[in-house]
Amino acid sequence: MAIRGTIIKIAGPAVIAKGMTGARMYDVVRVGNEGLLGESIRLDGDTAFVQVYEDTSGLKVGEAVESTGNPLTVELGPGLLFGVFDGILRPLESVRREKGDFISRGATAVALDRTKKWSFTPTLQAGDQVNSGDALGWVQEFGFKHHVLVPPDVKGGEVSEIKKGEFTVTETVCRLKDGTELQLMHRWPVRQPRPVKQRLDPREPFVTGQRVIDVLFPVAMGGTAAIPGPFGAGKTVMQQTLAKWGDADVIIYVGCGERGNEMTHVLDEFPELKDPRTGRPLMERTMIIANTSNMPVAAREASVYTGITLAEYWRDQGAKVALMADSTSRWAEAMREISSRLEEMPAEEGYPSYLSSRLAAFYERAGRAVCVGKPERQGSITVVGAVSPPGGDFSEPVTQATMRITGTFWALDDRLASRRHFPAINWLRSYSLYSPLFTGWYKEHMPEDFEALRNRAGALLQQEAELQEIVQLVGPDALQDDQRMVIEAGKMLREDFLQQSAYSDVDSDCPLEKSYGILKAILKFYDGAMAALKRGMLLDDILNLKQIEEVGRMKDVPKDEFQVYLEQWLKRLPEAFGAKTVGAEAS
Ligand SMILES: Nc1ncnc2c1ncn2[C@@H]1O[C@H](COP(=O)(O)OP(=O)(O)OP(=O)(O)O)[C@@H](O)[C@H]1O
Ligand SMILES: [Mg+2]
Repeated sequence: MAIRGTIIKIAGPAVIAKGMTGARMYDVVRVGNEGLLGESIRLDGDTAFVQVYEDTSGLKVGEAVESTGNPLTVELGPGLLFGVFDGILRPLESVRREKGDFISRGATAVALDRTKKWSFTPTLQAGDQVNSGDALGWVQEFGFKHHVLVPPDVKGGEVSEIKKGEFTVTETVCRLKDGTELQLMHRWPVRQPRPVKQRLDPREPFVTGQRVIDVLFPVAMGGTAAIPGPFGAGKTVMQQTLAKWGDADVIIYVGCGERGNEMTHVLDEFPELKDPRTGRPLMERTMIIANTSNMPVAAREASVYTGITLAEYWRDQGAKVALMADSTSRWAEAMREISSRLEEMPAEEGYPSYLSSRLAAFYERAGRAVCVGKPERQGSITVVGAVSPPGGDFSEPVTQATMRITGTFWALDDRLASRRHFPAINWLRSYSLYSPLFTGWYKEHMPEDFEALRNRAGALLQQEAELQEIVQLVGPDALQDDQRMVIEAGKMLREDFLQQSAYSDVDSDCPLEKSYGILKAILKFYDGAMAALKRGMLLDDILNLKQIEEVGRMKDVPKDEFQVYLEQWLKRLPEAFGAKTVGAEAS
């Protein structure tokens, strides 16, 4: 029986209703005469506190609130790819084309096209036994063999009938002996993590093609990373770059509460992007959830849960998924607003006391896992969350809470951004807790000295920063030649290695071998220079060597020519130092 109460108070995106006895936490409710979509987020006797995912203006006290008795679910199945959705997975594009920029309120648009037919090929036959998570067969969706899965909450049983042919997502393709009917799609409640058979430890990096990340601050395949950064420091560009070049099969981009024009930019730009792997549109393996700052704040929370649920669905397909959330701060602000509207006791800076546990519950859904069901599949979800601390102050609650949860921290720095040092990742403040876990992987995939070189680069940058401080205080003359050489090497590391333009044709993606190669060149040069200084070569002569300029050009050497270029460069290096040294001795 439907539970039907009455609105007694409206406070922005929050509504309080009486007469809701029997309603459950996180049930979806229909609010007011227009049937606005909401979710009960707190219950107290017969009072329900509801967050409404749609604009509440015009809503009046006394209107009805009706519980549907179901949690917020999303549709999962073929047809998600190339999709652009709002926070509760209503397709934005189709609605936008028809009705202008906004979805009409109370609209019940469905995520998956009901008319499109998919060609289903079963991999089972009548009489077979199936269990939760097993694939019944597949449909081709762009480059994917999209498994049609027994939903994780369906127990399974003996197949009594399974059909091959053309089906819409809602037509039954398989019947079990107990009468269960299975379709190409199923629903899943967004707040409930989808089960896995076994969680796997992070063991390999999620390679991004970005030198500063891949070498200095890697994130794990199935790991979590935070990009905190002040206004304009490059959070959005970084997330788009990772979407484009990161080693993922499927990309989920959640635009959460960012300015409409920024989202429009994403919506305009993504469909234009070419997938560097296939030359086809990147959207063929992307889903976008767009929830802009002018959309109702409560839907931000839904957009984050919707995004991670999509990610889990694709993980269950056996895919490597990357989820970008831009920006988790806007979600936290929505929590703060709703919490204050509901007059909850505020904690730090007005955020609710459950801020960290909510953030943690979201990031914990990342990971690498053996999926439930047959055939055996392994999938991963790597989550990258942007954080927008007001004034770039990392001591604020959202940044601090996120820092405690995520394994990698890419601290963006507006001083670097204003010097046009991009990506503006501050190498002294960033960290990766995953690096030590990759030793085995590096041994297998990289030259032996990869980790040693990386550690030396980190140490040199640190040393350079310390020397720069001295220079600031007492001027460059205070430094010895070998210290000036450290500064020079630091400059090479910063300009020729760490800096990488997202807009360069050649350099926007840098394979790990090439990153290693550039690093090796810089450190070889540095070692050669230090030895030459000892032998009496003049620092000025070293700084005039054309090799410095050549290192600067390495990032623009195409990937397939790079190894040859590097080998030749390394071969000529001793000569550069040797000749000059001999010359110096002779004079
Ligand atoms: N990796 C990069 N390579 C080249 N340019 C970059 C890079 N990252 C950022 N930029 C430059 O910085 C500008 C601002 O970046 P971006 O929009 O990503 O900042 P943001 O942190 O998302 O800002 P906001 O706080 O407004 O959302 C970009 O338009 C671009 O010009
Ligand atoms: Mg941005």
